[in-house]
Amino acid sequence: TTPLRVGVAGLGTVGVGVVEILRDHAAMIAARAGRPVVVTAVSARDQGRDRGISLAGLGWEDDAAALAARDDVDVVVELIGGSEGPALHLARATLGRGKAFVTANKAMIATHGPELAAAAEDAGVALAFEAAVAGGIPILKTLREGLAANAITRVYGILNGTCNYILTEMRTTGRDFADVLTQAQALGYAEADPTFDVDGIDTAHKLSILAALAFGGRPDIGAIHVEGIRHVTIDDIRFAEELGFRIKLLGVARMTDHGLEQRVHPSMVPLSAPVAHVEDVFNAVVAEGDAVGTTMSQGRGAGRGPTASAVVADLVDIARGCVTPGFSVPAAALGQHPSAPIEAH
Ligand code: HSE
Repeated sequence: TTPLRVGVAGLGTVGVGVVEILRDHAAMIAARAGRPVVVTAVSARDQGRDRGISLAGLGWEDDAAALAARDDVDVVVELIGGSEGPALHLARATLGRGKAFVTANKAMIATHGPELAAAAEDAGVALAFEAAVAGGIPILKTLREGLAANAITRVYGILNGTCNYILTEMRTTGRDFADVLTQAQALGYAEADPTFDVDGIDTAHKLSILAALAFGGRPDIGAIHVEGIRHVTIDDIRFAEELGFRIKLLGVARMTDHGLEQRVHPSMVPLSAPVAHVEDVFNAVVAEGDAVGTTMSQGRGAGRGPTASAVVADLVDIARGCVTPGFSVPAAALGQHPSAPIEAH
């Protein structure tokens, strides 16, 4: 059988995880996908750096966009990050060549998702981004497939591992925000610019994608009220506990009589709610559907294994011949207006 040949752009923590999983589980994945899924080429900033894996036998490109043009690459995985620049250039180059594109890049999908979905649709190839939302939790699959029968009334959850880790540590150790942020960064869960995490922007990116899939339409960051956790104090956390609540940074999207409401802010969650007990780097997504009622998925929302797990799931889909649509609404219905730029609040 013909292997699916993968080019990986970005060999940071997640990129290395993808290479490792595809190697370590090669036989199992080939059996599940119906054909082998093999990495043939990679691109990163520094070829000489020791990443703890062997790159022997893999093609190397200094320029990520060159992966799209390689004859031995059928699908490109983008793990560079950033909504613009090399990541966006690579996405356009890959889809423009009629090749499938897999990404963990929530900022890019939240900002340019509709344009990329339209390009993928024109080319008849997959645009897949399971890893962009809630790391290892297969929540996009859940919304698209598992809950396909339901009108979704509300979707919300803990979508940023760094913030949940910080709030958990503040509560359990009594240390303040600045102190714990440094620790969270050292663990490698935070974005390159941690203000995206702590100011709620990363959560807003993910919420906009969830909302677009749950309710139709396009991600609209500009429509989200965003407030982060920078101003949450130890006293806030303690008083909340005394009253029977836990403070969590939630992203909430719900359909109201006046249309879709989307917001991100620290929330008082009653201790009786399962979401209150989702701690550390774990994420959780609650989806409410008219037929199913309330569902909750939880799992690790950041880090090597969880994020790579979601990327590989997308690759297995593509190897099986699934053309994952970027968004559930046909690109033609999405209109021509570019998404609003993201602003920190
Ligand atoms: N910085 C993100 C987080 C990584 O902490 O959740 C996963 O998107």
